[in-house]
Amino acid sequence: MRHTKVKDLLNSTTTLQEVNAKGWVRTFRNNQFIALNDGSTINNIQCVVDFENTPDETLKRITTGAAVSVIGTLIESKGAGQKYEIQVNKLEILGDSDAEKFPIQPKNKPSLDFLRENAHLRVRTNMFGAIMRVRSVLSFAVHNYFQQKGFVYVNTPIITGSDAEGAGEMFKVTALPFDNTPRTEDGKVNYKEDFFEKETNLTVSGQLEGETYAMALGQIYTFGPTFRAENSNTSRHLAEFWMIEPEVAFNNLDDNMDLAEDFIQYVIKYALDNCQDDLKFLEGRLLDEEKSKPQAERSEMALLEKLNFVLENNFKRVSYTEAIDILRDSTPNKKKKFQYIINEWGADLQSEHERYLVEKHFKCPVILFDYPANIKAFYMRLNDNTEPGRETVRAMDILFPGIGEIVGGSEREERYDVLIEKMKALEIDEEELSWYLDTRRFGSATHAGFGLGFERLVLFVTGMTNIRDVIPFPRTPGNAEF
Ligand code: 4AD
Ligand code: MG
Repeated sequence: MRHTKVKDLLNSTTTLQEVNAKGWVRTFRNNQFIALNDGSTINNIQCVVDFENTPDETLKRITTGAAVSVIGTLIESKGAGQKYEIQVNKLEILGDSDAEKFPIQPKNKPSLDFLRENAHLRVRTNMFGAIMRVRSVLSFAVHNYFQQKGFVYVNTPIITGSDAEGAGEMFKVTALPFDNTPRTEDGKVNYKEDFFEKETNLTVSGQLEGETYAMALGQIYTFGPTFRAENSNTSRHLAEFWMIEPEVAFNNLDDNMDLAEDFIQYVIKYALDNCQDDLKFLEGRLLDEEKSKPQAERSEMALLEKLNFVLENNFKRVSYTEAIDILRDSTPNKKKKFQYIINEWGADLQSEHERYLVEKHFKCPVILFDYPANIKAFYMRLNDNTEPGRETVRAMDILFPGIGEIVGGSEREERYDVLIEKMKALEIDEEELSWYLDTRRFGSATHAGFGLGFERLVLFVTGMTNIRDVIPFPRTPGNAEF
């Protein structure tokens, strides 16, 4: 007999059938009621054991975490809380779980920190089951969105020689030995003797390679892991995270903003439509967590309301220059409550500023655009008609409540001469990026794209507050367990 998923059993339309369910015991009450979960849904199926006719030996082995198989009749449940339950006729323990040793005991209400240390087992809790199912559905929604629109999915390399963001936050990739490292005459590491015969690193972004494909296939997107060795030990940064990077030929910055907004609204709607039970559970979790916070720090909206709000309201589009004016005149700036006081145009925005704009001033998602050229990456298009000394680029960042920056993107500098000038000024090796410059040498055209940090999206949709809790095995400074 093949077993049936718990989700399908709970959605069944007929009763009194003999069914087989397999899963892990969540709880066992009164020597009679097993709450069985198999990961297909947040809901457990109640299995009622005929304890009078079950040997004590077996009953003792029904412990939290044990894997069991039950065969029985699916009947309407008399108890509140579930429509169906299984009247067990045959129970088999597939794998024992020592109650003294299994660390995830529901009674103890394990902390998020403790669960992080047990990342391989935390997925057996309701919370992490829900998060990881939502993550999976969101990832499907990403592909759905772009595939329906005719975008080509491109797999850009993980190992590369380029630093797309020019921020120098790269993990080196090498097969050279650490002792007796081959050196050149002037004492530098001789990468000519390395595996790739050049210096390589893990990619920080697939954008540059993605651009070359957009300039042939028209509309492309990437969706893959990216790596940053930035030492930011925050609740928003991972050293290994997943990024979605669409790139579209002939799009300008306005088209880029439209695409990003439409895309984000689509994937959130998709999750709302397809993860109702999980999102309801996560909404309850968030309310619970916020009970312990002072009123002022609690969110104004419950999770589902917040997600619907994003669907129903346009993102507010604000230029960097307008944002600086707002920030300069803001109460926290005047009262010196910001850690970094905004004095003049040109200042880089810190997350405290971004969050002020989104959470206090506009109270909705914000797209900031036209940033000062010198705080943004080399490939962004220089605006025409900017004052000397006040050059801006066609950049955009999307800021979300509770998250800060969720998207970074731009229209690209399509003019060969302007791009070369910029690279020279920043001492970026033209030789090394000669292939990239070819897109501007042969058939260059306006194009634009952006990067969405997938985990930041999952954070927003699940209402979790630490990015380490929305990726199965987080990599952060000092942590690469599992
Ligand atoms: O703003 P970023 O650095 O932009 C790029 O990499 C561009 N090449 C994208 C493009 O135009 N194709 O990163 C894009 C997004 C950020 O907005 C943020 O959501 C996420 O990636 N991100 C991180 N997420 C988690 N941990 C980190 N350390 C992240 N760094 C960036
Ligand atoms: Mg950015």
